Amino acid sequence: MMAAARLRLALLLYVFMCAAWARPGLEPAIRLPSERAAAAGEGTDDAVGTRWAVLIAGSNGYYNYRHQADICHAYQILKKGGLKDENIIVFMYDDIAHSPENPRPGVIINHPQGGDVYAGVPKDYTGREVNVNNFFAVLLGNKTAVSGGSGKVVDSGPNDHIFVFYSDHGGPGVLGMPTYPYLYGDDLVNVLKKKHAAGTYKSLVFYLEACESGSIFEGLLPNDINVYATTASNADESSWGTYCPGESPSPPPEYDTCLGDLYSVAWMEDSDFHNLRTESLKQQYNLVKDRTSVHNTFTYGSHVMQYGSLNLNVQHLFSYIGTNPANDDNKFVEGNSLPSFTRAVNQRDADLVYFWQKYRKVAEGSPGKNDARKELLEVMAHRSHVDNSVELIGSLLFGSEDGPRVLKAVRAAGEPLVDDWSCLKSMVRAFEAQCGSLSQYGMKHMRSFANICNAGILPDAVSKVAAQACTSIPSNPWSSIHMGFSA
Ligand SMILES: *[C@@H]1O[C@H](CO)[C@@H](O)[C@H](O)[C@H]1NC(C)=O
Repeated sequence: MMAAARLRLALLLYVFMCAAWARPGLEPAIRLPSERAAAAGEGTDDAVGTRWAVLIAGSNGYYNYRHQADICHAYQILKKGGLKDENIIVFMYDDIAHSPENPRPGVIINHPQGGDVYAGVPKDYTGREVNVNNFFAVLLGNKTAVSGGSGKVVDSGPNDHIFVFYSDHGGPGVLGMPTYPYLYGDDLVNVLKKKHAAGTYKSLVFYLEACESGSIFEGLLPNDINVYATTASNADESSWGTYCPGESPSPPPEYDTCLGDLYSVAWMEDSDFHNLRTESLKQQYNLVKDRTSVHNTFTYGSHVMQYGSLNLNVQHLFSYIGTNPANDDNKFVEGNSLPSFTRAVNQRDADLVYFWQKYRKVAEGSPGKNDARKELLEVMAHRSHVDNSVELIGSLLFGSEDGPRVLKAVRAAGEPLVDDWSCLKSMVRAFEAQCGSLSQYGMKHMRSFANICNAGILPDAVSKVAAQACTSIPSNPWSSIHMGFSA
């Protein structure tokens, strides 16, 4: 490629990514527990029935390596913690370990110096079996509603404790899935209510990594169904990938992709280390909150949040994820934190880092160079297309002055994203039918569609202006709707 064109590409990338790269944070420091203090409240947990866990990575693609790496790591924690495979249900697309791009075939790591976390992970639901219908059926323990996969479901009883961990891209009110449609906040909370009504758990803990993950529970999750949730971010900010190329610590040089996510890695590296009989959910929440916000400085990172039955957070992690007997001496003491990260990459920009790394590494003049350049430009073109289309639709609906204000308005804390969730879903379909798929990046615009609904505009009206805004669906794979609508 010509030098001038290369410079233009680099500049464009810089514009896309400048907001994503944050200043170096504090120096890493490991402070080990200097004395063994019995954590307050030991023994307050209710007697444990059976511990169940559902782990789900909602993405696919090698550039999303980190979500499946998180899930595999979580499995290893549960396994060492004493949970049985029959009680752990794993959803992962499973296209990472044996991807031709994986520099260590058959191995997945979740830390730059970390060992393999892939070995032994049950493949309950893989490929297209990772979908909303199966996820809900598994949570509800409804074997007949499951399609494909191992058929394993959360067949729990009234004394049981359930742990759910979800790691993926998201947007306001929505979580990604490798197979359309995406998962919407109201549907998830309705499933949790249904599970509660069936009397098939004592309490349920939900850990959620995704952009705008707070919006999944904000104003939706009741505080009287014994569900305690923590999220990587509040309702209005992205979450962050970590151990990304160019960071410190960075992945081994042969990796072009991020190995983990900030919130996920924070709770897991804490859980790897402590005697979880002595650490409460609340203590872990505080520790993870501190690490994910770089000690409350927000040089990068996000606001870790908690929702639902907050009274459950005095319970010990042991009730949900067990504990590794090798950690029996590592009792939790306030302040014994793990290393800080020096940098992190906004969840939504991690794919750019990957496509850029890949492009940069291919030798000039080699046949792969043009393909890598095409891939990178397609990602960027899709972003511009979605951003511009949504902005134009806002202007056509509300005028160029008010459009941006209406689309970006954020509701007060405690209010749900949208009053009418079926309107939101129809709005998304109306957009995608004219303008093409939102895809993982476009999930960020869910708030705009929600606000259009909140303003009382009907999907038909949006369909008409979207047809004006988008004369055709771009031929780009990211825009393709042949896999279906995301709502
Ligand atoms: C389980 O799923 C099937 C199929 O979707 C449905 O007909 C049935 O009512 C469900 N059972 C329960 C107990 O919800």
